[in-house]
Amino acid sequence: MPESNEIRSPGSCTAVVGLQWGDEGKGKVVDLLAEGHDATVRYNGGANAGHSVVVGGERYALHLIPSGILAKGKLAVVGNGVVVDPEKLIEEIDGLERRNVDVSGLVISNRAHVVLDYHKIEDALREDLLAAAKGKNASGKDSGPGQIGTTRRGIGPAYAEKINRATALRIGDLLKPDVVRERIALACGVKNAMLQGISGSYTPLNPSDIAERAIECGKRLSPRIRDTTYLLHDLLGEGKRLLFEGANATLLDVDHGTFPFVTSSSCAVSGIGPGTGVPPSRLSRIIGVAKAYSTRVGAGPMPTELFDAVGEGIRTRGREFGTTTGRPRRVGWLDLVALRYSVMINGVDEIALTLLDVLPGVERPRVCIAYRIGESKTDRFIPDGATLTTVEPVYQDLQPIEQGLAACRTFDDLPQNARAYIECVERFVGAQVTIVGVGPGREQTLVRERR
Ligand code: IMP
Repeated sequence: MPESNEIRSPGSCTAVVGLQWGDEGKGKVVDLLAEGHDATVRYNGGANAGHSVVVGGERYALHLIPSGILAKGKLAVVGNGVVVDPEKLIEEIDGLERRNVDVSGLVISNRAHVVLDYHKIEDALREDLLAAAKGKNASGKDSGPGQIGTTRRGIGPAYAEKINRATALRIGDLLKPDVVRERIALACGVKNAMLQGISGSYTPLNPSDIAERAIECGKRLSPRIRDTTYLLHDLLGEGKRLLFEGANATLLDVDHGTFPFVTSSSCAVSGIGPGTGVPPSRLSRIIGVAKAYSTRVGAGPMPTELFDAVGEGIRTRGREFGTTTGRPRRVGWLDLVALRYSVMINGVDEIALTLLDVLPGVERPRVCIAYRIGESKTDRFIPDGATLTTVEPVYQDLQPIEQGLAACRTFDDLPQNARAYIECVERFVGAQVTIVGVGPGREQTLVRERR
């Protein structure tokens, strides 16, 4: 037992969080940091996330398993705040094992919620219905996309189930066949009635089929299912270092993002407390990851979006196609108003600026430094979908970034205009850039000490 006057266990916590609309290259940053930590921990989201990491020339696309799994001999923890599609998780485990990745360190919270068939069906049906219901606003103008453009992985309905409680199933329940059968029968009673109401073409689901598959998944996953809250606190008590890996990103956070065009979880670092049981006071280092430009997948406002050949060039050079859905990503200039907001929301100490090597070739790079709304101007972000759609970005032009960044191996190797771009970001958002990505390889990640 700890001494009653003991102040705090000696371990430490680092968080890595996306500062834009996802796909910032968090997987690569986690991969870089994982060696110096004992466990990586996911706290939010589900199989909607797509973390793409290149190790030894091999590309791995991870959705549910923390990217830290690729570091040998470390724990990879799926926290209680994640919604887990057990069949997708098993597929991912099998896929990694086939490629000889050691997955023995993977642990899943017994309190993570389960994504089942009806969540994915509901996600898709809602999206189709919303698209069909797309209407006009009061002034007769097109009201914009009705649907959110979700990944259709059942994320929203699974989180809604958790909040609704009675029909939700947690990973630990998968080890109790009677509970699984009873809960899924109850859920199907509700879902079949509800989804038939939503769509005449819906075929009612058979609860016993879903339940037996869920029970099989439970058997496969059982050695990995733990109370991860106590596990994490025990690790901290032993002086271990934890690395929290945010999925999706701050501007998709259900509270702080561009609502309603967001995901359904707390993606910002404030999600770590509810999503793992580790309190925010334990965080000692917060690294925000941002691309040198902006991308977004799905619907919703993106003030700096490009619809021209410049955007097309960035999309091609940056290989901006979704890891999870393969959709082409929307591309735009770096939005410093949004970035500064995300730095503020997360209390970011350091920034990892990724994909800087995609910008050379752009004749006149620009960054957004304010928004114009009608006659007024603001440098404050507006986390509201309807209002943000109406803003006009105010830009600052910068010098074209030099070619050849991919060959840089240290910060000092970076040419003048590339450095000026980084300094412009630092000045505007008030945080230091300590990591710069100039290519997909581990050796193309330039790191410097924090000032
Ligand atoms: P959902 O998370 O599938 O419900 O999708 C909600 C919105 O978040 C959609 O616009 C998705 O494209 C977006 N989204 C969710 N996860 C990610 C991610 O990891 N990267 C980029 N966009 C994401």
